[in-house]
Amino acid sequence: MLKKNIHNHFIRVIILAALSVKFNANAQNATITINTAIAKNNISKNIYGHFAEHLGNGIYGGFYVGDTNTVIPNINGVRTDIIEALKQLNIPMLRWPGGCYADTYHWKNGIGPKELRPVTINKKWGGIKEDNSFGTDEFLSLCEKLGAEPYLAGNVGSGTPEELSDWMKYINAPDEEMKSNRRNKNESAAPRNVTLWGIGNEAWGCGGHMSAKKYASEYIRFLKVITDSSHTSGNRYIAAGAKDADYHWTRTLMKNIPLNQMGGISLHHYTENKWYHKGYATEFKEAQYFNTMKSALRMEALITKHSAILDQYDPQKKLALVVDEWGAWYETEKGTNPHFLYQQNTMRDAMIAGVTLNIFNNHSDRVRMACLAQCVNVLQAVILTKGAEMICTPTYHVMEMFKVHQNAALLPVTIISPDYIFRGKKLPAISVAASKDSLGITHISLVNIDATKSQTVTINLEAGNYNSVEGRILKSTALQQFNSFEEPAAIAPVKFDDYQLINNKLTLTLPPFSIVVLALH
Ligand code: AHR
Repeated sequence: MLKKNIHNHFIRVIILAALSVKFNANAQNATITINTAIAKNNISKNIYGHFAEHLGNGIYGGFYVGDTNTVIPNINGVRTDIIEALKQLNIPMLRWPGGCYADTYHWKNGIGPKELRPVTINKKWGGIKEDNSFGTDEFLSLCEKLGAEPYLAGNVGSGTPEELSDWMKYINAPDEEMKSNRRNKNESAAPRNVTLWGIGNEAWGCGGHMSAKKYASEYIRFLKVITDSSHTSGNRYIAAGAKDADYHWTRTLMKNIPLNQMGGISLHHYTENKWYHKGYATEFKEAQYFNTMKSALRMEALITKHSAILDQYDPQKKLALVVDEWGAWYETEKGTNPHFLYQQNTMRDAMIAGVTLNIFNNHSDRVRMACLAQCVNVLQAVILTKGAEMICTPTYHVMEMFKVHQNAALLPVTIISPDYIFRGKKLPAISVAASKDSLGITHISLVNIDATKSQTVTINLEAGNYNSVEGRILKSTALQQFNSFEEPAAIAPVKFDDYQLINNKLTLTLPPFSIVVLALH
């Protein structure tokens, strides 16, 4: 009997000891210092841009339901619910028509009376029929409705410089020239002044399978024809840049293309679990989550290293680094067309968006444009649709919470972050960015990626004079949680008041896998 009591007591001691270790292990501290008096460069609103490709249900069955649709409310065929939702993000810029599709797209197929537009085949994305009912004029009027700047990707892979130059004329030529081009045969006659032009896309891959040197000479050939013959005043040309860590590509372009012929150079980085199996959007364990966050955080090193190359050739930072494709790429959702790249979007995706946007903010002296891939129903979408229904994903809410940084002045931040440790491997648990807007309000965006631990964060607001704080938090019951058509608001931002502000020192607790955005007055 005595032996049994001793045994039970022993077990109780072990359990209590284990619990206390767990309790202590769950309390981590981070220290952040923000110099609130030194405003650095402005954060371009265009780093909060989006991407809409003719892929899956991105355009057709997504944005565009056809202008004879009487079931789903629309303006000229574009869903009004999507327009309204994107306006809430202050969507600054939209890239179109691809992606890989851009290098197969011949713009003349998508203008003029719809009944006369040819049916083509979308060879890149599933070999499906493309009736070209959503073309240049439809895209430009969508951008007008959204208040977003159009960013057009030109066809270098299978098009000619003349074709691209004619597209520019069609869109931008002033009235005197207009009679000689085809815009006057279409509904919209006024010149549109579109200045953002991608000269191809992924030229190392679907955009022509070129070497860096070959692409650089193609770029120069295209620019020669364009600048000789189009209406080009104020145009910003974006060279098709590297994938991930292909620094050779960036260096070759910088060496071979005259600086004054480029407005920017692009970079594509997708967040993936493992290249040989990406895993599913909603089915993952902590091991996959950790890998995905590692891949997302890699953006920091990629931007730093590509920027260092740009700095060598362009120390005045005239060129923008344009991350015009970023986001999570998983296995296509089971039961959907594998070529359509449809995936659900969980709290994990919110974490990816939060850390990536903080990286962009903190590098906004060089990163001045970026596009999340993609806007509706494709990859890390902000909006998903099903028939007449539409939902906003957790990523949407991050974009909405972070919009306060658009065009605000970046504030310098230093951080001592605890590690998020999984099976002995480490990642920084906390990510942060801060800015001051034109009204003098300071905004701080914080992300805690740790899957199990909350973080107590102390923020020293140097040179600050703050007396009130408002905050919102995005969190969920599990990393795998998502907004479904049955429960569309399962994850949405709510008021956050777990903070203390005393003498310009702000202390707050971030729950595991959560995002907080604060406004300091
Ligand atoms: O976003 C999907 C595809 O990913 C794009 O078409 C292409 O540019 C990239 O490889």
